[in-house]
Formats: sequence, C-alpha cells, structure tokens
Amino acid sequence: MATNITFHPGSVSNEERSTLLGQRGLTIWLTGLSASGKSTIACALEQHLLHLKRFTYRLDGDNIRFGLNKDLGFSEADRNENIRRIGEVAKLFSDAAAITITAFISPYKADRAVARELHSAGKIPFVEVFIDAPLAVVEARDPKGLYKKARTGEIKEFTGISAPYEAPDAAEIHIRTDEKDVAESVKTIVQYLQDNQYI
Ligand code: PPS
Repeated sequence: MATNITFHPGSVSNEERSTLLGQRGLTIWLTGLSASGKSTIACALEQHLLHLKRFTYRLDGDNIRFGLNKDLGFSEADRNENIRRIGEVAKLFSDAAAITITAFISPYKADRAVARELHSAGKIPFVEVFIDAPLAVVEARDPKGLYKKARTGEIKEFTGISAPYEAPDAAEIHIRTDEKDVAESVKTIVQYLQDNQYI
C-alpha cells in the first residue's frame, strides 16, 4: 500500500470534457454465465455505437486476462481482484468520455456493487445488463467445451458448476438470450441508452 501520495485533480472537469467532446462517458456492465452471450452482444453493441460515431471501447474477460490481469486465476479472491481492476479501468475510460462496454462474468454481487459505487462517486453513469440464459442452455451451447471439462472436473471452480454465480436483483437491463437474438439484444440496450439520454 503506497503512502505519502496526494490526489491531483487536474484542471479539466468531467462536464467540460463531455461538453467539448460532445459525448458523455458511461459504463455498460454486462454480467452473466460463460456462454450466455456477453462477448457476442458486447461486440455487436460496440459496432453499432461506433457506426453512430460514438467513441466506444470494449473490455472483455478472456482478452484482459491475456494482459492486464494475466496474474489472476479463478479463485474467489482472484475474481474479486479481476473485477476491482476492471471497475477502475472502466471508470477511467468512461471518465475520458468513452462509452465503455465490459463483458465479464463478474459473478459476485458485492464486486459489481463496488464497481457501481466507484462510478457513482465519480458521477459516471453505470448501466448493469444481466445477460441471462438458463444453465442448461449455456451448457448445451458450450462453444469452448469448458462446461464439459468442468463436469468431468478437468476445470475446477467453474462458474455455474463448481463456483457460484449471483444473479443481479435489479440490473437496469435484463436480457434473456435464449429468447432474444443478438440484434434484438443490442436494440434493447440502445433503446435504454436513448430513453435515458445517454446517447
Ligand atoms: S470473472 O469471473 O468475471 O473473473 O471471469 P472473466 O474474467 O469474465 O473470465 C471468464 C472467461 O474465462 C474462461 N474461464 C472460466 N470462466 C469461469 N470459470 C472458470 N473456472 C474459467 N476458466 C476459464 C471462460 O472462457 C470465460 O469466458 P466467457 O466469455 O465468460 O465464456
């Protein structure tokens, strides 16, 4: 833990940056089981918003674990730290006026609450999106063969099988991906952003 450090606020306020750039940042936080559709929806949403000429950036679980978080595994403590860092990084991107889309399982309510609180303290909107599909459905999809390995015990602490997933009680948006296709899911999120004057 560092000591003798002082926060330097800078001279550009969040409001000034947003006004000058013509865009206000926000974080769209996707949470859900592996294979629920988080990454697919995040990619399609990123494409959609970029084509509306919005500065958009996507942070994705698998990808971030190749770099920034390559020191972390899937124990509860490592997932806590993974999500703590992503909350901080998302806040930085959104503070820089990006529409930041995060796609992490983020299985613990408390971790998501910490990320939300961090944004709230910085007056940055935080939109939690529950990417939901029943376990039987995501297990049948199993695009990476991970559920199969989790069932045989080859992968330990696998979310939904041998590690918990705490579903949100009050996410801003709830999408059932066994009922909606990708285009409809993106439309639902974009509609929410428009209804709340975020875009
Ligand atoms: S977490 O729980 O938010 O820290 O996980 P995340 O950073 O989103 O990483 C999830 C991706 O890692 C792969 N993977 C696992 N997921 C869950 N449990 C275990 N044990 C595990 N091991 C590897 C998997 O590809 C996840 O990607 P998605 O896109 O969710 O399927």
